[in-house]
Parts: sequence; C-alpha cells; structure tokens
Amino acid sequence: MIVDDILRTPGAVRDAERWTAHNYHPLPVVISSAEGSWLTDVDGRRYLDCLAGYSALNFGHRHPQLIAAAHAQLDRLTLTSRAFIHDQFADFCRELAELCGKDLVLPMNTGAEAVETGIKVARKWGYQVKGVAADQANIVVAEGNFHGRTTTIVSFSTDEDARADFGPYTPGFTVVPYGDLEALAAAIDENTVAVLLEPIQGEQGVVVPPEGYLPGVRQVCTERNVLFIADEIQSGLGRTGATFACDHEGVVPDMYLLGKALGGGIVPVSAVAANADVLGVLKPGQHGSTFGGNPLACAVAIEVVRLLATGEFQRRSAELGERLRAGLEGLVGKGLVAVRVRGLWAGLDIDPALMSGREACERLAERGVLAKDTHGSTIRLAPPLVITEEEIDLAVAQLAAVLTA
Ligand SMILES: Cc1ncc(COP(=O)(O)O)c(C=O)c1O
Repeated sequence: MIVDDILRTPGAVRDAERWTAHNYHPLPVVISSAEGSWLTDVDGRRYLDCLAGYSALNFGHRHPQLIAAAHAQLDRLTLTSRAFIHDQFADFCRELAELCGKDLVLPMNTGAEAVETGIKVARKWGYQVKGVAADQANIVVAEGNFHGRTTTIVSFSTDEDARADFGPYTPGFTVVPYGDLEALAAAIDENTVAVLLEPIQGEQGVVVPPEGYLPGVRQVCTERNVLFIADEIQSGLGRTGATFACDHEGVVPDMYLLGKALGGGIVPVSAVAANADVLGVLKPGQHGSTFGGNPLACAVAIEVVRLLATGEFQRRSAELGERLRAGLEGLVGKGLVAVRVRGLWAGLDIDPALMSGREACERLAERGVLAKDTHGSTIRLAPPLVITEEEIDLAVAQLAAVLTA
C-alpha cells in the first residue's frame, strides 16, 4: 500500500485494465516520455527500448527531423481527404516509389490495410489481367504468417488465438509450410493470383527462411504468372540492415506492403508500392481511405523516406546487428537454445525449462530493458536503429543476468 501511494505505476496499470478490452497483455510499465532509444515511465524510471513499437520506431523516439516535419505540417494543414490533392502528396508518393523502385504508390494507414489493399489489387489483377474465372482467385500464404487482424487476414492465420471464433472465414487462401519451395509451387494453380509472404516472419519469432527460398519464390511466381507480394511491414525500412529484407537475396517482389516505420513513430502510415501494370487495375471508387495519404502522414513519411535514402540507417542496422549477434550467440547454451539475427532484429529461444518469454520480459523490464515475448519461450529484440554499441552491450548484459539469475 505504501508503495502504491508513492508510485504512480500500480494505479495507472489498474485503471488501464479497468477501462479497456483485454485484447493485449502489456508489461506493467506506464510510459510517459521518450527520446531516442530511451523511455521514461510515470515514476521516472528509465528503460532501454528493445522493441521499438514492433519496428514502428526504427528511427527512435522523436527523431528531430521527423518531429520538425510534423510540427511544421501541424501548423499548416492536417487533413483534406482524398477528395482534393494536397501539396505533400505527390512528393511522398514519388519519393517512396523511387525508394521501392516501383512506378506507383497507394497510401493507407495501418499495416492490415496495406495487406487488405494488396489482396484486393491481386484479385482484381487476377480477373482483369491474368484472366482468372470470376470469384475463383486464390492466394498462397505461409504457415506461421502474421499479416494483421482483420476478418479476411485472420481467415488465413494459422495461429488459433488470432483466428478462433472469428469465422465465417474469407475463402480464397491456401496455406503452405514457410520455407518449403516445393510445397509452394505445388499449391499454385491456374486460379492463383498471388503468393503473399513475409520475407522474414516477425511475429513467429524472427524466422529467416532457408537461403534460396525467396529467389525460388520469385522464379516460380514469374514462371507461373503469379504476383509475389512481400509483406515488409515489419521487416522493411532498414530493420534488417537493408532497405527491404528481400534485398538480402537480391529479390524484387511485384508488390511491397509497407507500414510501421513509414510513419516515423508519429502517425500511422502504410502503403502498397507496385508497378503500373499491377496497381493500375484500381479505378476511382474501388478502394480508398479517408485518412490514407493525409498531409500530416505524408509530411512525416517524406522525411522517413529521405532518412532511408541516405543509407545510414541500413548501414547502422547491418553493423550494429553484428554486435548484437555476437553478444546473443555468446548466450546460446547459457539460457538461450537458439538465436536468429538479421540486422537489428533478433528472435531468441529461451530454454523453456528456465522460464517463459513473458517471465524473461518481466525480469528484463525490472532491469530497465523493454522487450516482448512472442510465442512460448521466444522473445524478440528490435531496438531503434539509433541504438549505440554501448546500449546493445547493456541489453545483452541484462539479458545474460536474467538468464543466469
Ligand atoms: C508483417 C506484418 N504485417 C502486417 C502487420 C499489421 O500491421 P498493423 O498492426 O499496423 O495493422 C504486422 C503487425 O505487426 C506485421 O508484423
């Protein structure tokens, strides 16, 4: 009780639980401010952010260039709807299209909306360009996928928590094992319009497919006249040490789905980028969003694209990722059973006999490091790309302490 009287956290946690649907199980930490890689809670405790908003904060909290763009835009124009054109729109679309090496961009808000957009575009492309019979379009997806939470997207999830009791499910999806090229090729038929994959499965625990898989998918899709849709919502925009996770294997998909970091940790911004023969199938009235491509979103996202165009963040992620890898690999056999690292993105499998991922994250939080468990005893580290070498060492040292305590 005495502690409750002094600290603001317990009451704030209770109030949050009292007034919200329990669709999340957050760590009992109540954040009130942040800068760069660091968060401060309502009681003044500081935490190193090793989740970065599931990669929405790739540039850290309150990156000065992004905050300045947001402030300037707030003072001029915030929303027009797409009924009119605003002066940030073309620059955003052009600069993002150039970053992606694609002709066109379709802006939306959340990641799930980008995925829904990709599905709709692929189906329309299938009927209008490929010549698939009406209502027969099929999309091949992977086991263990995470593409969002809408009713259509959970229809092809293989995670029962995400899917159960949300039926009836949207038809038109075939699920194949992730990383199995033969199974994927076998699932494609004349009605297949697209293969939709995460180039690295984030929610599944940063699962990297076998080398050669993504180029193989690219080749099969080209040969069978099927669109390759890469969901780079979590893996893209610098996280893995390249602009896109597909870049590591020299693969260019037909459609990039982007989100999270595109909004600079300030506003939700998502987008689909593709060439005109694909995105060109949409005509006025067939798709849209009141807030998609709004002036504030575009002003921030333009600066995000400019930060990425420098290559600095991709370089940092690649270089610092090697330090993170070395540190984490040193813990294999000392509480960790496996680690998977790509850039500043790591999936860690903790020895389940030792503790659950949740317990590990709670203990890390007590030591001033915030991370998030995913399935069972797996946790994911995805620090902001502005993290320093010393901060990486600190995170690894605290993890070592948690595993050996
Ligand atoms: C790969 C991937 N796709 C889509 C989404 C959905 O994004 P949002 O939560 O913004 O709808 C996520 C979110 O974690 C994701 O990781």
